[in-house]
Amino acid sequence: MRNQFLFLAAASLVSAQGFSADWDAAYTKAKTALGKLSQNEKLGLVSGVGWGKGACAGNTAAANSIGYGGLCLQDGPLGVRDRTGITAFPPGIQAASTWDRDLIRQRGKGIGAQTKALGIHVILGPVAGPLGQFPEGGRNWEGFGNDPYLCGVSMEQTVGGIQEAGAQACAKHYIGNEQEKNRDTMNAVIDDRTFHELYLWPFAEAVRANVASIMCSYNKISGKWACENQQMLDAILKKELGFRGYVVTDWDAQHTTVDSANAGLDMTMPGSNYGGMNVLWNNGQLSNAVNNRQVPQARLDDMVTRILAAWYLTKQDSGYPRVVTGGSNVQTTADKNLAKAVARDGIVLLKNEDILPLVKPRSIAIIGSHAVSNPRGINSCGDMGCNTGALSMGWGSGTATLPYLSAPADAISSRARQEGSTVTTTASDNSYQGASAAQNADVAIVFITADSGEEYITVENNKGDRNDLNAWHAGNELVKAVANVNRNTIVVVHSVGPILLESFADLPNVKAIVWAGLPGQESGNALVEVLYGDVSPSGKLPYTIAKRASDYGTSIQATTDNFSEGLYIDYRYLDKNNIAPRYEFGFGLSYTTFNYTALSITSTATSGPATGATVPGGASSLFDTVATITATITNSGPVPGAEVAQLYLGLPSSAPATPVRQLRGFEKQMLQVGESASVTFELRRKDLSYWDVGGKRWVLPAGSFRVEVGGSSRDLRLSGMMTVA
Ligand code: NOJ
Repeated sequence: MRNQFLFLAAASLVSAQGFSADWDAAYTKAKTALGKLSQNEKLGLVSGVGWGKGACAGNTAAANSIGYGGLCLQDGPLGVRDRTGITAFPPGIQAASTWDRDLIRQRGKGIGAQTKALGIHVILGPVAGPLGQFPEGGRNWEGFGNDPYLCGVSMEQTVGGIQEAGAQACAKHYIGNEQEKNRDTMNAVIDDRTFHELYLWPFAEAVRANVASIMCSYNKISGKWACENQQMLDAILKKELGFRGYVVTDWDAQHTTVDSANAGLDMTMPGSNYGGMNVLWNNGQLSNAVNNRQVPQARLDDMVTRILAAWYLTKQDSGYPRVVTGGSNVQTTADKNLAKAVARDGIVLLKNEDILPLVKPRSIAIIGSHAVSNPRGINSCGDMGCNTGALSMGWGSGTATLPYLSAPADAISSRARQEGSTVTTTASDNSYQGASAAQNADVAIVFITADSGEEYITVENNKGDRNDLNAWHAGNELVKAVANVNRNTIVVVHSVGPILLESFADLPNVKAIVWAGLPGQESGNALVEVLYGDVSPSGKLPYTIAKRASDYGTSIQATTDNFSEGLYIDYRYLDKNNIAPRYEFGFGLSYTTFNYTALSITSTATSGPATGATVPGGASSLFDTVATITATITNSGPVPGAEVAQLYLGLPSSAPATPVRQLRGFEKQMLQVGESASVTFELRRKDLSYWDVGGKRWVLPAGSFRVEVGGSSRDLRLSGMMTVA
């Protein structure tokens, strides 16, 4: 892996682990093609053909003069939506929980390959907004957790994987769309530093990875709609970050013809009076605006050039499959295995008191309605708009049709029988029934959930965002009732995000808590491999599980979101305020143990602002490696296992007030029993810098940085200082 990185870094056109791309060559082709297009063809390229007209959620017209078949844009971030025979991969949040760069990339590649096989050009993902300002945010699970660094790496790898497979990725939703409530009218007011250091960061990494397209969001930013916000689209995305692809609206997020065109919007979707806005581009409006010089012809040409450049960049101009409608089967065995690996390696073991892995218990009671498939059918709720049966993903446009679901109860039962255990399943959340099933079993495994999704569906009174952070369906009561009668209670949680565990986490009879997240189609198969110790759990939390909702310091807003907590979301807030979490960001147990030794820090960093020409992602020097930190981890326990070594950085006092520590590196390392390995964290100039509001630039501060390396944000085994002059 190292050698490959060095080799790639040497080739200047390649972003470290994103998509290897030559924008200049793509632009040359795009400009040649532009010269052959009629004005009508140009107009057809930049606007959807209308809602429901075409094979995909969004479709653009063909331009026959250049052999351009038009684009088919389809959701979504975990696999191809509304198609059969695809893979319903685990959502982004589960991929992030693996903290495994390679696996995250493979997942992207799997999604991209199926997208291409179906002839779809643009897959509407991955998601970096919402980032996760609010733990209740309905769509957080579509993305990669609320730490910008973890999310940024996940964006880079996912974009890289999708585009390497031949599809165009679309990083969404840009930006400030942190909640579902009032998302169409919300005004996000984000101070410039918080904007750069938290919310823009993962989008910048997507640009760095050469993402083809970016979707602007429904909300306003500082009073201006995201899709006609000149500051956001032109000044920041295109100029500051050097984004050379195209900006496409979220569906019906366009409010004006002229202003949006002039602000830097490049494509409008879906191109019909969908939802009541009569401000389109494709019914003569944009054409008129260009004719009477409200929108410069050069701006239209730029839109077209960007769209064509992305198409050439991903080599969709030759041999791309035709759009497949109707039934299909593009899922391979490798896809299923990959989906299982992501589901499994994203499982986070939160508590384990000598009970896991299971060793041939005589009898097992499986308890809870969420242990079994939805009795009405695994796809019976449109866009997964219900929380009935085993939870594999949230709800909304970011879902896919399950080709099958490995239900936890089925997978556990079949394994348990092989091991000679008797099994009873009680698919009820009723405490009385749960307790009576549990009381005579050696081991009781209880399933609880929390769900959320997109605002166009309300599930059990939750209109997208969650109403609170409690387990649904009286899950806490069920766990307590079971633990009351069974000394070996194991709680399995399937959830879109953190839930409060205080009512049972310390109960002595709750011997284990297994955070199984959102596993996609391979739910049960993945879980069994962890429960039975085929693999040691290796996932780590991509968010904090706090003791109380108020410990997060943020809550869903009404009409304006002022982002008043600034940089202090999730662990940054708890650290600042000395609040003890239940389970901290980055936490996760294993069946083995790891030692950390031999921290070494070398740096060539010099203080001062980032410099250099703008490359995709920002000023070129931001991406220079300026420090290398290594540590040795040893598997000191009884079984093989993988550890996620995490690096946190504290900035020197010469920087403006900054969180106590921020994630700036991680490396997942598999280790056999007794084996040691050195993990290396390469820090880029950007990773050591803060956003200087006055100078509008990244600045690397002088002084002493605190370097901490460990197994979570609070299990920091090694620390040292790094001084920069
Ligand atoms: C609206 C959602 O916000 C977006 O994520 C999705 O891609 C479009 N609808 C198209 O379904």
